Amino acid sequence: MTAPAGSLLAAENLRKAYGPTMALDGAEFSIHPGEVVAVMGPSGSGKSTLLHCLAGIVTPDSGSIVYDGQELATMSDARRSALRRSEFGFVFQFGQLVPELTCVENVALPLRLNGTPRKQAERTALAWMERLEVDDLRKKRPGEVSGGQGQRVAVARSLVTSPRVVFADEPTGALDSLNGERVMELLTEAARSANAAVVLVTHEARVAAYSDREIVVRDGKSRDMERVI
Ligand SMILES: Nc1ncnc2c1ncn2[C@@H]1O[C@H](COP(=O)(O)OP(=O)(O)O)[C@@H](O)[C@H]1O
Ligand SMILES: [Mg+2]
Repeated sequence: MTAPAGSLLAAENLRKAYGPTMALDGAEFSIHPGEVVAVMGPSGSGKSTLLHCLAGIVTPDSGSIVYDGQELATMSDARRSALRRSEFGFVFQFGQLVPELTCVENVALPLRLNGTPRKQAERTALAWMERLEVDDLRKKRPGEVSGGQGQRVAVARSLVTSPRVVFADEPTGALDSLNGERVMELLTEAARSANAAVVLVTHEARVAAYSDREIVVRDGKSRDMERVI
């Protein structure tokens, strides 16, 4: 496929079946550098499957995904893992922090996995934790912090490698609305200042309100709301 002009990541005609279930049935997507796009839709509509395909975690049965001018399907496994390690960041609903590590070690982890020396990695990690207002938690373990604090630590970790795309799947799904709003404010501010694009999966309109644009998924089919309106 030819990706839409200026897009960083785009997908067309994605199909993915799990047995008899068509998780994706002709989904499309596109995002520009630095843009925040909300992927909306009811539970079971295919949002997470779309995110996993876009991030190269799940291989679609058919369709095309282009990242930075290159088809994901033509990349080697090594190149796709390198993308996930250095150019993509991830925030999930919960359970993503390593319980044995301190918060600063958790945030520094993606840099350590890329070979950055510990001191340097933790310095960068701490700068991101300051931005997300969780630097005072540096020595605590995930079990000792609140849900909202844990998600802010996870957001810091998703940004620590200066990724070009952050994939966030229901990042506020386990939080009350006040903590959810704060996480969204800090996530979108930090991502915008770093010019990282954000693929934000959510079923909540008040979370999607932080995006620049919305894509709606229903029964595995997605629609760019701007093109519909
Ligand atoms: N690994 C899987 N194995 C089997 N079925 C799956 C798997 N992942 C997703 N599905 C099914 O695909 C559909 C879409 O799921 P999902 O993408 O998780 O939706 P959403 O994130 O919008 O809730 C659902 O019917 C779900 O049960
Ligand atoms: Mg989901």
